[in-house]
Amino acid sequence: MDINTEGELMEKIVTLCKRRGFIFQSSEIYGGFNGFWDYGPYGSMLKKAVEALWWNEMVETRNNVVGLDSTIICHPKTWKASGHVDRFGDIMCDCRDCKTRFRVDQMPDPTTCSNCGSKNLTPPREFNLMMKTYVGPVFDEEHIAYLRAESCQPIFLDFNLIRIATRQQLPFGIAQIGKAFRNEITPRMFTFRSREFTQMEMEFFCADEGSMDWWEYWRKERWNFYREKLGFREDEIRLHPHDKLAHYAKAAVDIEFQFPFGWGELEGIHHRGTWDMSQHQQFSEQDLTYWDQQNNKRFLPTVIETSVGLDRMILAIFTHAYREDKAPTQKEGMDEDVRIVLGFPARIAPVQVAVLPLSKKLNERAEALQQDLRRYYRTEFDVTGNIGKRYRRQDEIGTPFCVTVDFETENDNAVTVRERDSMAQERVSVTSLKSYLDNKIFGW
Ligand code: GAP
Repeated sequence: MDINTEGELMEKIVTLCKRRGFIFQSSEIYGGFNGFWDYGPYGSMLKKAVEALWWNEMVETRNNVVGLDSTIICHPKTWKASGHVDRFGDIMCDCRDCKTRFRVDQMPDPTTCSNCGSKNLTPPREFNLMMKTYVGPVFDEEHIAYLRAESCQPIFLDFNLIRIATRQQLPFGIAQIGKAFRNEITPRMFTFRSREFTQMEMEFFCADEGSMDWWEYWRKERWNFYREKLGFREDEIRLHPHDKLAHYAKAAVDIEFQFPFGWGELEGIHHRGTWDMSQHQQFSEQDLTYWDQQNNKRFLPTVIETSVGLDRMILAIFTHAYREDKAPTQKEGMDEDVRIVLGFPARIAPVQVAVLPLSKKLNERAEALQQDLRRYYRTEFDVTGNIGKRYRRQDEIGTPFCVTVDFETENDNAVTVRERDSMAQERVSVTSLKSYLDNKIFGW
């Protein structure tokens, strides 16, 4: 079966995500809420694991990048300065007949409704994507505030405080993971374009001189992350340099991923010049320049940004991981059956090790083993159904290792470890189980 048929793979991923409690529509009992998605038990574990991987890669393993966890709502002037209030919009139009709303740049023919074929369209008009709210007791113009449209802006506002507190000198970066909100006109493709999503962004502050080298450096680092840490194949990702650059930008490239619906932007690595810092300096009337003691120079830092949506990264991980293969079955009249597998890298799998007692009589022994293993790994205890069914269930949630406790365990103090991808089974002594799993999961 060719699971890569356009639309089909996406449908399978969406169905599996709902069935296994990874991701489903928000507020489903009220008919759902377009552009908003909830991460269920396995989805939230996966999300936290991917976040932790990115944070480890970008912050914990570097001396020159520090973290921030800022508020979602910040001073409304921020968004005036960044240009979001005046310019952050899409051109849209409505079909007067079927009432569908379109982004004009996404219409194959901007004079014809892509839904019903009518030519009866409203004139194109600008639509701002910022989500508004009010702060304080009065709901008027003066009290308008915005849910942030990108997580990076507070990094610029806090630059000086962080630099002084951490005694960092240029070049250094500030990273943040957090929610962003955009009133997208056409949320679509599952979580690809949502109205509430999480961004993982890092702003790297440096002198203009040498800044292109830093841009190159981060482009390579981010590419390697996808290849080495997430295991994406060479043919699944590509670099897409921007044809048109923002007036302040020196260079911009996207890392694109081949989603089930085609190539789509996953991450941007942008040279933003001094634009952000100069805008905030002007609007706040604060001095945001940096004193370079070594060269006896004062200047506004240049910024290199790496920006990726966590939800898009997770959709890419699902696309990469989803697989169907043939597996032997004990079902009557059938030799083989389709096995659905999520081949997540072990480090980010929501369940890394499932402990399965072969019989209820072995529950106590198996539970004790799980108690021990859960100190180091994300584990699950699974007792229901025959062992074959349990393996399949674990394959579908992407568990790389199933540890089976059987009647022999009492005698040889060993368990059977079944590996998800090869389905190979190996007898491992309980005393060396941790070092065996550490090696397989973390490469230690
Ligand atoms: N600070 C730069 C910035 O926000 P962007 O290209 O608008 O740039 C960066 O967004 C990343 O955020 C994108 O590459 C994508 O991964 C993610 N993203 C943007 N809009 C999104 C949406 N509506 N839903 C999900 N992810 C989104």
